[in-house]
Amino acid sequence: MAFETIIVEIEDHVALIKLNRPDAMNALNDHLLGELVVALNEAQENDKVRCIVITGSEKAFAAGADIKMMSDKSFVEVFTEDLFGPEADAIMRIRKPIIAAVSGYALGGGCELAMMCDFIICSDTAKFGQPEINLGVMAGLGGSQRLTRFIGKSKAMDMNLTGRFMDADEAERSGLVSRVVPAKKLMEEAISAAHKIAEKSMIATAAVKESVNRSYETTLREGLLFERRVFQSLFATEDQKEGMAAFMEKREAQFRDK
Ligand code: HXC
Repeated sequence: MAFETIIVEIEDHVALIKLNRPDAMNALNDHLLGELVVALNEAQENDKVRCIVITGSEKAFAAGADIKMMSDKSFVEVFTEDLFGPEADAIMRIRKPIIAAVSGYALGGGCELAMMCDFIICSDTAKFGQPEINLGVMAGLGGSQRLTRFIGKSKAMDMNLTGRFMDADEAERSGLVSRVVPAKKLMEEAISAAHKIAEKSMIATAAVKESVNRSYETTLREGLLFERRVFQSLFATEDQKEGMAAFMEKREAQFRDK
């Protein structure tokens, strides 16, 4: 399908999805999020794709939900359409690993979209924030929930209450991002991480994604039990036999997702 607000490139098992509304700092509107969900679902269905990278431009990953689109909406409208809720739910249903490659601004819904991905690699120019407070509203797609779980209450309160931006160093120190790289190296680093993931058994990567995500939704005891059972279930796969045999035979494993 031809897209207007995103660019999709599939190369060697990695689907690269680039948010592309340059005139609006990649602000998220119905059109863009709708296309993003279609592209992600296509990547999920495409057997060739083993890992997904979402990125923006050098200046902005995404500067939030489109304020111009939202400004005149009433409570009844945003409630009835559940503004961006269905899209966020659809993104969270993707089972293949998704890396966010963030350069420049990741604000409001942009920061929240990055947090919906499985991990964030950012450039040293990245700026994260939940500035919705300056608009007389608050975060609506995870900025008060995921951010709090990722960086803790004090910093999440600070970000959400003051609307200040967090630079890449602070984001790494706080655990919001997994790696910071020079801006010029961002895509190379993200794509190379995606290729590394693409080499693994997709059954195992899906299991990891489900298990780590489960840790945010359940108690430690339940999470540990879930992890243990998923670990055990992987012994039913041919990929487990292959992975362990390859180790003992001192060769690269050839996973077949079986
Ligand atoms: C619509 C946006 C936008 C946004 C930027 N633009 N952010 N349009 N929605 N969120 C547009 C600007 O209007 C402008 O277009 C163009 O992009 C360039 O932006 P400038 O402001 O001129 O650039 P700059 O001075 O460099 O400042 C960049 C910026 C600033 C710091 C990112 O644009 C900014 O503060 N943006 C808003 C960030 C924000 O509040 N995000 C939260 C949104 S609410 P024109 O045509 O006017 O020149 C949200 C809720 C999510 O995300 C939950 C939903 C359920």
